[in-house]
Amino acid sequence: MNYRHQFHAGNFADVLKHAVLLHLLGALQAKEKGLLYLDTHAGRGGYDLTKAAAGTSLAREPEWPHGLGRLLDRADLPPELADYLAAVRAFDFAARTETAAGYTGTVGEGPRFYPGSPWLAAARLRPQDRAVLCERQPEEAAALAAEFAGRRRVSVQTMDGYTAVRATLPPPERRALILIDPPFETGDEWSAILGALADGLARLPGGTFAVWYPLTARARVDVFYRQLLAFRDLPPCYTVELLVGGEDAGLKLWGCGLLVLNPPWGSARPLDALARWLAPVLAQGPGATGGVHWLVSER
Ligand SMILES: C[S@@+](CC[C@H](N)C(=O)[O-])C[C@H]1O[C@@H](n2cnc3c(N)ncnc32)[C@H](O)[C@@H]1O
Repeated sequence: MNYRHQFHAGNFADVLKHAVLLHLLGALQAKEKGLLYLDTHAGRGGYDLTKAAAGTSLAREPEWPHGLGRLLDRADLPPELADYLAAVRAFDFAARTETAAGYTGTVGEGPRFYPGSPWLAAARLRPQDRAVLCERQPEEAAALAAEFAGRRRVSVQTMDGYTAVRATLPPPERRALILIDPPFETGDEWSAILGALADGLARLPGGTFAVWYPLTARARVDVFYRQLLAFRDLPPCYTVELLVGGEDAGLKLWGCGLLVLNPPWGSARPLDALARWLAPVLAQGPGATGGVHWLVSER
């Protein structure tokens, strides 16, 4: 297992995933009742973008300039992306201030530090909410634990994220947003996701599950959808996808998506607009497109 999110932090996939995450969390928080945020594959919490191009043996091309980087100077961001960028800038500013005592820069000067899903969500928790963050890789888990040391309402677990779905649900709050964001390094990731969704839905039928997936082969995703649609009592669900190039654009990762089960009411329309807006802005080849597609529509 060599995956390190450091190299990918702030890339086009993170932009989509993190903007969608913030929107879903905000929509669920429209209700006063507390909720659990469960991050099954949390990573290390925050990333230094100046290290994003330094591999263990190879220097790599940083990915964030083609993701986050293309949003920095835009004055026409849709509201969901403006909210995402504000969250990224606030994290960057706080981390710079912590790193260099006496730092006198301004919010927006960055970016140097980039928040992962744990920080984006944790920064939005209300007093009645809590978070469980799971990471299996020991070094990443140690960094994550250090990030959240002493933080109330946030629990860091060094464990398998799929096991955590079974161990954590249903939560006493009976409301949850579960982000499943695996590295897809092994072929069995898709079946592990299906297993976790089946267990998770059995334990918390109304839970909101968001699963990130890569688009490297359309056929594999279609098999996944077919297997999902064979679930008994599958709740309302849609996908929000962003293709930065067509399948034949010559890109290794030509797009990504999030499958959202039990989406908050009314969330499809703004996320559709967000993905459509992002496609030409983050395009890396011909055929870029984006949008929301319902698999099971709202009843
Ligand atoms: C895509 S990264 C997570 C990024 C993070 N969610 C974010 O948006 O900032 C995937 C992470 O899952 C971890 N991982 C891999 N297999 C896992 C498993 N079975 N359970 C928990 N974590 C796992 C990897 O070490 C890696 O840090």
